[in-house]
Amino acid sequence: MKHQRLKSLYLVVALLFLGRLSLTSSLHSDGAILLRAKNDQLDDPNGLLGDWVETSHNAPCNWTGITCDPQNDAVVSIDLASVGISGVFPAGFCRIPTLRNLTLSDNNLNGTLSSESISLCSRLHLLNLSFNFLHGELPAFTWEFVNLSVLDLARNNFSGEIPVSFGRFPGLQVLSLFGNSLSASIPEYLTNLTELTRFELAYNPFKPGPLPSTIGKLTKLENLWLPNSNLNGDIPDSIGNLIALKNLDLSTNSLSGKIPDTISGLKSVVQIELYDNQLTGELPDTFTNLTSLLRFDASQNNLTGKLPKSLAGLPLESLNLNDNSLEGEIPEILSSNPALTQLKLFNNSFSGTLPVNLGRNSNLEDFDVSGNEFEGPLPPNLCYRKKLQNLIIFKNRFSGTIPASYGDCDTLTYVRIFNNELSGKVPARFWSFPGLGFIELKNNRFEGTIPPSISGARDLTSLLVSGNNFSGEFPSEICGLQELVVIDISRNGFTGELPSCLTNLKKLQKLDLQENKFAGGIPSSVSSWTDLTELNLSNNNLAGKIPTELGDLPVLTYLDLSRNLLSGEIPAELTKLKLNKFNISDNKLEGKVPPGFNQEFLISSLMGNPNLCSSDLKPLPQCPKPKPASIYLIGILAALAILLLGSLIWYWVVKTRKLHPFGSKSKRSWNTTTFQRIGFNEEDVLASLMEDNLIGAGGSGRVYRVKLKSGQTVAVKRLWGGNCQLESEAVFLSEVETLGRIRHGNIVKLLFSCVGEDFRVLVYEYMENGSLGDVLHGEKGVLLDWPKRFAVAVGAAQGLAYLHHDCVPAIVHRDVKSNNILLDEEFRPRVADFGLAKTLHKEGDRDVMSRVAGSCGYIAPEYAYTLKVTEKSDVYSFGVVLLELVTGKRPNDESFGENKDMVKWVTEAALSSPEQGSGDSGSSYDVLGQLIDPRMNLSTRDYEEIEKVLNVALLCTSAFPINRPSMRRVVELLKEQYPLARPK
Ligand SMILES: *[C@@H]1O[C@H](CO)[C@@H](O)[C@H](O)[C@H]1NC(C)=O
Ligand SMILES: *[C@@H]1O[C@H](CO)[C@@H](O)[C@H](O)[C@H]1NC(C)=O
Repeated sequence: MKHQRLKSLYLVVALLFLGRLSLTSSLHSDGAILLRAKNDQLDDPNGLLGDWVETSHNAPCNWTGITCDPQNDAVVSIDLASVGISGVFPAGFCRIPTLRNLTLSDNNLNGTLSSESISLCSRLHLLNLSFNFLHGELPAFTWEFVNLSVLDLARNNFSGEIPVSFGRFPGLQVLSLFGNSLSASIPEYLTNLTELTRFELAYNPFKPGPLPSTIGKLTKLENLWLPNSNLNGDIPDSIGNLIALKNLDLSTNSLSGKIPDTISGLKSVVQIELYDNQLTGELPDTFTNLTSLLRFDASQNNLTGKLPKSLAGLPLESLNLNDNSLEGEIPEILSSNPALTQLKLFNNSFSGTLPVNLGRNSNLEDFDVSGNEFEGPLPPNLCYRKKLQNLIIFKNRFSGTIPASYGDCDTLTYVRIFNNELSGKVPARFWSFPGLGFIELKNNRFEGTIPPSISGARDLTSLLVSGNNFSGEFPSEICGLQELVVIDISRNGFTGELPSCLTNLKKLQKLDLQENKFAGGIPSSVSSWTDLTELNLSNNNLAGKIPTELGDLPVLTYLDLSRNLLSGEIPAELTKLKLNKFNISDNKLEGKVPPGFNQEFLISSLMGNPNLCSSDLKPLPQCPKPKPASIYLIGILAALAILLLGSLIWYWVVKTRKLHPFGSKSKRSWNTTTFQRIGFNEEDVLASLMEDNLIGAGGSGRVYRVKLKSGQTVAVKRLWGGNCQLESEAVFLSEVETLGRIRHGNIVKLLFSCVGEDFRVLVYEYMENGSLGDVLHGEKGVLLDWPKRFAVAVGAAQGLAYLHHDCVPAIVHRDVKSNNILLDEEFRPRVADFGLAKTLHKEGDRDVMSRVAGSCGYIAPEYAYTLKVTEKSDVYSFGVVLLELVTGKRPNDESFGENKDMVKWVTEAALSSPEQGSGDSGSSYDVLGQLIDPRMNLSTRDYEEIEKVLNVALLCTSAFPINRPSMRRVVELLKEQYPLARPK
């Protein structure tokens, strides 16, 4: 017994010894630490750390990302930036006693950064964890971090306050925390870090507070970067002590008061950005010393007074003071500046004439003095160095002519000089610069013609010259400018005929020629004007008929042909247009007003045509009744025709014994597949695909509601044939393949499919209440109280979770939206429309892939740059549907404002809500109140549930796919009792 024990002890000792031997001989112990930390704490999906192998030569010193001290092969630096690793912060790396630098930026690290784990790293000189997904509070750092000189935690999701220990690093030179969710205000103790050269806290939702007045202690500071940091109050005087500062950026805050005189102390400063604050008072006159200053931007404040000569005398490259209340003249000295390339003084009250030598001494590129009270002539040398690109001087009182020298300014791309008092001829070459994209000369007193040489301005998108005295013919050379989107030459004296080639301009959206003297007819071959929304030809001398083709323009909403000499009848085709503005008054039109225009509110649009008649519209004369004899004749002829047709059809039926709606072949091969037990066949279905039964038409086909002989009602989708056949084939196959093999209570049932030579038909169970989108955004929206909506949310989530997690291979729907969630008679949801669905393992289904996956407003942001669709893209779209359920708005509702969609709108509202968990539930209801669909009557319990759904929706619509929960988790979260636990 004893013997036995002794033996096993030997064995253990021997093993230990061997193990140690092999360690020391084949692997540096730093390597063991690295491997352990990597294996325990990191994932390396890209395999870029594949060379971290114990046996490799010189391990670990030539492993990816590792730097050793050449003297003793000790690891001194780990740099794994952008290798795509994920996992938690690998504190284990810090067990290497010689490690100085640790850089893990731009990866997918997740989780929190605890004070315990960070305490292992007290020997570090540099710690860079920026651009990851770390969250939670910032850790406290102990006193031991005496050597830390760079701490970069920017662009994570850290929240809460900046701990006191951040003010204690004795040697910290770089503190970068920008782009987190830090919420307390910027603490004064950070100004104890007197070694700092970079202080970057921008883009945090800090509590509003001032820039600490002790900021002047940071005399080594080179970069002070605090835009979007909720700063308020004055800029402290001590700012002038920052003698090493090169870049001062306090833009987009709420700073007020004057710019302090002490700003002259910034002897090294290159760039000062103060735009978008509430600064007042005059600009200090102490700029003289700032001889390194290249860029000064104090635009969008409330500054008053004059432009100080000391500022104008600096060799600035760019001076932006737009959107203030500055006044007075521009000091002549500004024009002797040798560096000035950008001058933006727009929207102020500057007056007087511009310095005559402006542009002579520097490479001026960008010149914008619009919205002031300047007068007198334009400075002749503005383009002296031939660099000027943007000439923006609208809304002033400039007079005289455009200087001839401007005709040589080939670099011009953007010209806006409207609303001035300029006159005379425009230099001929001014129209033809090769890069010119935009020219707006409206409301001046220019005269002369537009020369044929305008054909040189090949990139021109907008030609806006209305309200001048231009005359002559409108040159047909204009038709070669294929980029043109807007032409407005209204209120001039143009004569001659309209160039008929104008219809070649395929991108044209607006054509305004009103109040000229154009004669001749309206061009008729307008079918290429597919983007035209506005056509105004009023107040000319146009004659002839109104082309019927105008009725085919797909997006025309504004049509004004009034006050011309147009004759003939009003083409009935025009009634097809969806017009907001329609005017054909004061012409010579005649005949009957087409039925679609017999509307009270259109009377004024029709008046002034003495020969128009209508039986319904009051002031218009009645149309003469056709003679009775001819009525009889027509009647008899019609009866005969019907008889003839009827007997033909009868003959046909008898002959073929089959009547079906698809083509003429008598024998067809139909290929049908039945997926469920059904009591009907293809002929029952096909016979009833008639207009009367049509309930919808979409991108892939028409949908009919068909009541079968058996009494059963089904929905029948007929896919488009014709041109898009290939695509419709792919959609069909995808739908059949996907739906044919799945069964779930929240997924629409495919009963039957049928393929003929030139048609494809799918038969589904019929959903009484149509699509969620129609119900929610239509009048029936009131029927959907919150409990119903919540049930829809859960049901649809279950359907999608089934696709993602229970189908093998998993199925991505790729077009989740409210219109693809159908509701049965009890408003229970079924996910439908699998035309774009895709199983995950089968790549490269090209026909289907060639279509953009998804619908506008629902597409996950990563799709824009990866074009890859994963389950997480469905999760995003589903999040949008959740937001739709809560807000009752469409994902692209106009009320969200420009460039905003529902996700941005809700996210911004949610961010502006008082801090969550502050206990004051009343005010968080206020924010909720603005978001919630007002058509619902809600109980307190409903509010809680809505808050929960909103939280889930925001998780689902996270910008990064990795942060979105899986659909299965979404179902759990929705079903969880309130309050919501944090998702894992
Ligand atoms: C490491 O050393 C081995 C052997 O000298 C060499 O083959 C390998 O390319 C090196 N790896 C790197 C990343 O330098
Ligand atoms: C460590 O970081 C410091 C500070 O950025 C840098 O000067 C030094 O070169 C780095 N050392 C190594 C080995 O990468």
